[in-house]
Amino acid sequence: MLRLQVSILLWFGIFRLDFSDALSDLEPIRTESVLLKPKVMIVVLARNSEHSLPFYLGCIERLDHPKDRIAIWAAADHSIDNTTAMLQEWVSGVERLYHSVHIRTTEHGSSSYADERGPKHWPDSRFIHVMQLRQAALQSARAQWADYILFADSDNLLTNPKVLSQLIAENRTLVAPMLESRSLYSNFWCGMTTQGYYKRTDSYIPIRNRKRVGCHAVPMIHSTMLLDLRRRASRALAFYPLHQLYPWILDDILAFSFSARQAGVQMFVCNREHYGYLPVPLQTQQTLEDETESFSHTLSEAMIDFALEPSSYLHTASRNKDTMVFDEVYVINLLRRIDRRARMLRTLDVLGIEVTLTDAVDGKALNSSQLQALGIEMLPSYRDPYSGRELTKGEIGCFLSHYNIWKQVVERKQQQVLVLEDDIRFEPNFKSRLNTIMEDAQRTQLQWDLIYVGRKRLQVKNPERWVQGIKNLVYPDYSYWTLGYALSLQGAKKLLEAKPLGKMLPVDEFLPVMFNKHPKEEYLAHFKQRDLITFSVEPLLLYPTHYTGEPGYSSDTETSTIWDNESINTDWDHQRSHKKPNRGDAAPLPTSDGRNRDEL
Ligand SMILES: *[C@@H]1O[C@H](CO)[C@@H](O)[C@H](O)[C@H]1NC(C)=O
Ligand SMILES: *[C@@H]1O[C@H](CO)[C@@H](O)[C@H](O)[C@H]1NC(C)=O
Ligand SMILES: *[C@@H]1O[C@H](CO)[C@@H](O)[C@H](O)[C@H]1NC(C)=O
Ligand SMILES: *[C@@H]1O[C@H](CO)[C@@H](O)[C@H](O)[C@H]1NC(C)=O
Repeated sequence: MLRLQVSILLWFGIFRLDFSDALSDLEPIRTESVLLKPKVMIVVLARNSEHSLPFYLGCIERLDHPKDRIAIWAAADHSIDNTTAMLQEWVSGVERLYHSVHIRTTEHGSSSYADERGPKHWPDSRFIHVMQLRQAALQSARAQWADYILFADSDNLLTNPKVLSQLIAENRTLVAPMLESRSLYSNFWCGMTTQGYYKRTDSYIPIRNRKRVGCHAVPMIHSTMLLDLRRRASRALAFYPLHQLYPWILDDILAFSFSARQAGVQMFVCNREHYGYLPVPLQTQQTLEDETESFSHTLSEAMIDFALEPSSYLHTASRNKDTMVFDEVYVINLLRRIDRRARMLRTLDVLGIEVTLTDAVDGKALNSSQLQALGIEMLPSYRDPYSGRELTKGEIGCFLSHYNIWKQVVERKQQQVLVLEDDIRFEPNFKSRLNTIMEDAQRTQLQWDLIYVGRKRLQVKNPERWVQGIKNLVYPDYSYWTLGYALSLQGAKKLLEAKPLGKMLPVDEFLPVMFNKHPKEEYLAHFKQRDLITFSVEPLLLYPTHYTGEPGYSSDTETSTIWDNESINTDWDHQRSHKKPNRGDAAPLPTSDGRNRDEL
């Protein structure tokens, strides 16, 4: 016993000696390591989301927060489509990547609520169920000591991978990324009535349009939001049961907003960057097909700026595609504009439209000997109305691209085709709206040669005449642009018979000459038959992707070299002043905002 004590003392003494030695001279002081990222739980609630899940989950996977610091809490229920199976497949695919994954499904449960009139109808039972699910997720996050919980509805596309880290950096208890849609609709309100209804205020539009940028205190955020669970006040927040003083109609977002208010937690919406997209909510009576088409449109909008990939952990059959009511849908694409082609193909894929890509004629590569060989002559009196310049090589290339399609239509005897340029965006429900108009035309035996689907109206003061007996069709006045048009066999024949190559003017000036609405007599005089039977859909269903002057705008027809100068072979990018000022108007935004079901 004594020997042991002595040896312990001895050992400690030696150890002490060594230790102090090391500290004073030898041991370098190591810098502290960085902190691990905060722990985040992401809540995925899916119902009838087959159409959106692959892209939604793809966005979740790309978030730039380390996956071993993320827990997934997923629930699928009451679906009539394949949502549950898809979510299960995804969860088993990503399980090993994330810190933890929890899934809750009601495999044998019913596919609808007893008092529900359709997939977009929200009876009380549905509100309560959704609130209970969110509350269960919140409780689970608290039990796991998560630092944050991120709610993101299963049709919200978080296209910006930095969204999570940026919201965390805002250092707010409750914050939403502002999500965008084609309309003014978004996931926040700036005003609320005392009855808990949506109220438009003056600050809404500047925030929504990102004229005012930052993190804004608002009375309502919903759909996607981040809650900081380390904040004391967050403990009082609840989705369910309702706060005992809750005064408004039963609604999940109102209930949570009220809970935040009672807990003294301010809601913020943040628009420092573009964070993502959400679809405009549908009306109660609308169907799952409507919802699918509406989501496709949201996706096609998101894909204008981002190449969104679906999750690679899901085996989804790609959507069925068809050529609508047309024999063929032609898309004109300039080979060197690979970016545009990729974007257009993504968009068309999402919209379910089967197309034939045609190589546009690259005007830049044409020299005057080739122009001569093709018999191309400029219309003698042609001068660009705004710049006074002659035709550009790009405009010649554009004309030839359309011309080649007209020739094909005649050679193949195609009864009706759709011609699309490659820098366009589609209006919601493009496919079904255009199909309906075309079917109406067929049913009423309307004679037509050409129907504009997108164009620039030039005489906006004179209202255009509606076509009797067909909804959404007008007799067009003088217009620019050839973004997209339906063409009949007879129409293609008339355009070729006019022999336009020998007296060329821009194709979007040629068409109004052919339906006899061009204001310049001297152009009309060169073409004897000006009987192209022309209509236009109204409202228009196509717009340019980017407007003149916006970032990303680059027109191939308006920036190329003067056509007859062979010594120049580059785009005249500095000649931006050549752009026709009138072509820069923004398309009107529909003025719906607020959640539809709250405005009833
Ligand atoms: C449903 O989804 C699962 C998982 O993604 C898939 O394997 C299955 O083929 C899908 N079924 C149908 C009918 O689409
Ligand atoms: C975040 O906010 C808390 C209190 O609101 C404050 O104490 C803390 O310093 C803030 N952190 C940062 C990084 O700004
Ligand atoms: C014009 O282009 C064609 C085809 O690229 C070429 O063969 C021809 O030599 C060119 N002519 C002149 C005068 O440069
Ligand atoms: C062609 O462009 C060059 C370079 O800008 C210029 O020097 C020349 O005068 C132009 N020729 C014609 C015929 O316009």
